[in-house]
Amino acid sequence: MNTIYPAGSIILAPLSGYTDLPYRRSARRFGCSYAFTEMIDACSLSYRNSKTNKMLDRGDDETWLGVQLVGGKADKIADAVEVLNDHDFDILDFNLGCPVAKVAKKNAGAALGATPDDAARVFSIVTARSRFPVTAKIRILDEDNPEPTLYLARLLEKAGAKAITVHGRIRSAFYSGPVHTTIIQAIRETVGIQVIANGGVMTAESYKSLKKESGCDCVMVARGAMGNPWLFRELTAGQDYLPPCGLDLAGEMRRHTLEMIEYYGETLAMKISRKVILDYLHGRGYHRAMKNNVSFLKNREDLLAFIQPLEDGPAGKLVVPDEFPFPERSMRPNP
Ligand SMILES: Cc1cc2nc3c(=O)[nH]c(=O)nc-3n(C[C@H](O)[C@H](O)[C@H](O)COP(=O)(O)O)c2cc1C
Repeated sequence: MNTIYPAGSIILAPLSGYTDLPYRRSARRFGCSYAFTEMIDACSLSYRNSKTNKMLDRGDDETWLGVQLVGGKADKIADAVEVLNDHDFDILDFNLGCPVAKVAKKNAGAALGATPDDAARVFSIVTARSRFPVTAKIRILDEDNPEPTLYLARLLEKAGAKAITVHGRIRSAFYSGPVHTTIIQAIRETVGIQVIANGGVMTAESYKSLKKESGCDCVMVARGAMGNPWLFRELTAGQDYLPPCGLDLAGEMRRHTLEMIEYYGETLAMKISRKVILDYLHGRGYHRAMKNNVSFLKNREDLLAFIQPLEDGPAGKLVVPDEFPFPERSMRPNP
């Protein structure tokens, strides 16, 4: 079988609003080799929207980068693929799994994936026009019956998919609940192309279970890496893994957010870095009052003054519930 990713690859998922160049650079510092742009809307790309064009940036230091496209209209998709062909990517992934309303109302993402014949028809437009190998990212279509998802996977393979990433949750589950690894496994056993398992990898333990239960040797990580680029090291280092200490956490936050300022300019970076800063603090025992201060950070000086005391590590073990079901993340004391 020709594979896109070498066995054992841990791939950083496309994350809308997150996986920009500074974000990917942060993950790469901890061992991430395979990463994606944010999901790019075919309509915006076909209109040559400048904000969308920025999402196509690739750093000179990025040895491998995939681009992810989403869309529901054949003509816009065809046009968008032509735009992408003028850029430099290693693969083009087509999104058939995004559940959010903004995407669903355009009959794209998971809404398109839910009608396999339409999805395959649109997908074949992408494979016919793309100069890059094309892959698909899907969700499972039914938790109790593998057949609809197997049907979709077979059609995508026939339409030219070189690999399929399967998020083992149905559309209405969004990002919570069990990951149906047996359905991922059934897809892997059915198609002749590489299948990448996705869903619920937050720790070395969940990584091992997903690999074992799905039978896939490559996995894609998403929320587990948000504010936690150390995950890449954790998943590969085994027993030798040392979680970050306060100094490490503050150091990486500083570097990541200063790179955002350099990349976007101070005003825009301060707006979009707030969620990134909060992710670094999630699940690590930092006090809510400290998190509340993040919304008042207005400039580079505020940011640096906020980060400095984090070097000491969390003051106590007051854990507050987080937006996503992140597990508590371990920290070690400063050396
Ligand atoms: C904030 C956020 C943004 C996401 N953006 C995208 C996206 O742009 N494209 C995509 O295919 N999936 C996207 N996803 C889904 C993830 O790639 C992944 O499939 C999902 O989170 C399940 O993996 P996890 O359980 O490891 O988080 C997003 C998820 C989150 C939480």
